[in-house]
Amino acid sequence: MNPKFQPLFENITLPNGVVLNDRLGVAPMTTYSGNPDGTVSDEELVYYRRRANIGSLYISACIAVSENGIAFPNQFVGFHDEAIPGLKQMATEMKSAGSKAILQIQHGGRQGQPTLIKANGTVAPSAVEGPAGKPTPRALTTDEITAIIRDFGETTRRAIEAGFDGVEIHGANTYLIQQFVSELTNRRDDEWGGSLENRLKFPVAVLAEVKRVAAEYADDQFIVGYRLSPEEYMEDAVGYTINETKVLTEGLIAGGIHYLHVSLLDFQKLPYDDQGNGSIVEILSEQIAGRIAFVAVGSVKTPEEAVAALQEGADIAVMGRQVLIDPEWTEKVKQGRESEINPSIPKEMVGKLDIPSLMWERIGAYKMVKEEQEVKA
Ligand SMILES: Cc1cc2nc3c(=O)[nH]c(=O)nc-3n(C[C@H](O)[C@H](O)[C@H](O)COP(=O)(O)O)c2cc1C
Repeated sequence: MNPKFQPLFENITLPNGVVLNDRLGVAPMTTYSGNPDGTVSDEELVYYRRRANIGSLYISACIAVSENGIAFPNQFVGFHDEAIPGLKQMATEMKSAGSKAILQIQHGGRQGQPTLIKANGTVAPSAVEGPAGKPTPRALTTDEITAIIRDFGETTRRAIEAGFDGVEIHGANTYLIQQFVSELTNRRDDEWGGSLENRLKFPVAVLAEVKRVAAEYADDQFIVGYRLSPEEYMEDAVGYTINETKVLTEGLIAGGIHYLHVSLLDFQKLPYDDQGNGSIVEILSEQIAGRIAFVAVGSVKTPEEAVAALQEGADIAVMGRQVLIDPEWTEKVKQGRESEINPSIPKEMVGKLDIPSLMWERIGAYKMVKEEQEVKA
């Protein structure tokens, strides 16, 4: 291996004492390929096994914690015990090469799929007009908020029973948790809305419930991570800025997360309201100051870029699209064959990468295949 990539293979100890053997991992990626009853499909098992060699932190697609939280067609679901056998198989595949298997737990909120949500339509902190193509959601009652918090805990319990090493709370990408944080989608005037302190209560309460369940059903090796979008800038309005994210980060560290995962499309991105304080990753890593592990993502394709993400301040760099393109990425780096890493899917590899067929249909839009126009996927 080229010594300049050595930093990628140094171990790191999480605050609960769990040692990760390297600084790499797989970003959460929805497969759109669960069975019609929401259990894990055989195609998904093959997909997860194929990518088990990428790195220590292997984060799954997001699983719906509540019936009214389903966000995608064929999303796998975690809101009943029938999910557990499939989740067991999935955890086994994800751990097959020694990675830590992390289940990403999610509620879609206003991004829910109206056709898949049988009970009472999509829900959100407030009945603010829905995003493009989605109906206006119904505002959650306080009892329903409490029930969803419990649902995050129940899915965590099932993850523990299934043998997962941890969960990642999906607080990013405009789903329910982020909808509580953002003033644009949270217009409540009760204890769950209004001031920043109130808007941050929901993520902190979800974390507290997940930690309570982990303490009850797992040992202290169980990992709890949290993924957030660092800022929310919509067309003409600001939902929240990196300054508010720093406050949330403090609440999450106090609440006992072992890692924070920042969702970005480019790990070098500057804040929208750039004040010359560096990139988002630099700003948050300074804020975290080594108290927990810091995970970054966003357009890491080469090992040079993964090292650059660590230099930017991340402790761990995870990859999404690149591990769809080249599941042998890490082996190639370890064997000094990094020049053989595919930057896009070679035409001859189409159909040979163990990407479930419905996922493949969805990701067509990402133009990952070399000279895609000539390929009939
Ligand atoms: C097909 C696909 C599905 C995704 N599904 C999820 C998901 O379930 N949860 C999530 O937090 N992010 C999801 N993402 C976002 C990725 O985790 C990642 O943040 C994004 O792709 C940028 O990283 P990359 O440049 O390495 O691909 C998805 C991305 C892709 C391409």
